[in-house]
Amino acid sequence: MNGAQMTPTERANTALSKSTSTADTETPILEVRNASRHFGKFRALSNVSVSFKSHELTAIIGPNGAGKSTFFNVISGGLAPTSGQVLFEGRDISDIAAHEFARIGIAKSFQITNVFKELSAHENVRVALQMQITKFELWRSRASYKSLIEEADVLLDRVGLLNERSKCAADLAHGQQRSLEVAMALACHPKLLLMDEPTAGMSPEETKVMMDLIKELAQERTVILVEHKMKMVMGLCNRLIVLHHGELLAEGTPEQIRNNAEVKRVYLGQH
Ligand SMILES: Nc1ncnc2c1ncn2[C@@H]1O[C@H](COP(=O)(O)OP(=O)(O)O)[C@@H](O)[C@H]1O
Ligand SMILES: [Mg+2]
Repeated sequence: MNGAQMTPTERANTALSKSTSTADTETPILEVRNASRHFGKFRALSNVSVSFKSHELTAIIGPNGAGKSTFFNVISGGLAPTSGQVLFEGRDISDIAAHEFARIGIAKSFQITNVFKELSAHENVRVALQMQITKFELWRSRASYKSLIEEADVLLDRVGLLNERSKCAADLAHGQQRSLEVAMALACHPKLLLMDEPTAGMSPEETKVMMDLIKELAQERTVILVEHKMKMVMGLCNRLIVLHHGELLAEGTPEQIRNNAEVKRVYLGQH
């Protein structure tokens, strides 16, 4: 059965089983080859090559202005690289449209909260789920509509928001809005989840909740997050990648990065 013949639930289940498969762990899920991104004459990203293994939880760190968000945008379809390539499961995705990313299995959660404030938590997730439905499936049966409602509840439960399902998004705490956004990102059952500063602006308690959620989500899929605060990711990630002035400065385990003299130097005076 091909994708076009499947019901949305079947497609979601297929995507889910693919995303939880542990086979093929040797092929990088994402590979960045000599990627540069210029803004006029300014090189925000300069010849960066790095690859990510399936089911790894990696953080991209670096001081302010290091090129982290530019890197994030290049791997998530927000910006085309000026030169170089981005390969997802071996396929060059440097030129594909941003809206195609969810379809191929890449979802992103932004630095800025991206929810519809006037809708309830449940409605927000339903909108995200509905965006996965192709125009051929617009005329849906009552039964499949019901499954959409249930699927939205499953996703809200996944991020710890089931009790808040009827609350207007505007009335949720900042941390809860970020969790809601994660639930929306999960609507396409991504194999690769990209997060830009997932704990930005959060209280210590909210940060703890989000970090626990990221840890859980990373057991089921590949997660790459961009983070300014080095301390936060040290106990969370298997691997760290350090950018500085748009270049790859170092990569390694938290232990290796903690002991890297160059990393210490660029982070001096930073927190
Ligand atoms: N759209 C843009 N136009 C011009 N310069 C940009 C643009 N986006 C980022 N930059 C510059 O590129 C550098 C890296 O920015 P960014 O990727 O946002 O860094 P980070 O996320 O690590 O703080 C900064 O000096 C920033 O001013
Ligand atoms: Mg940034």
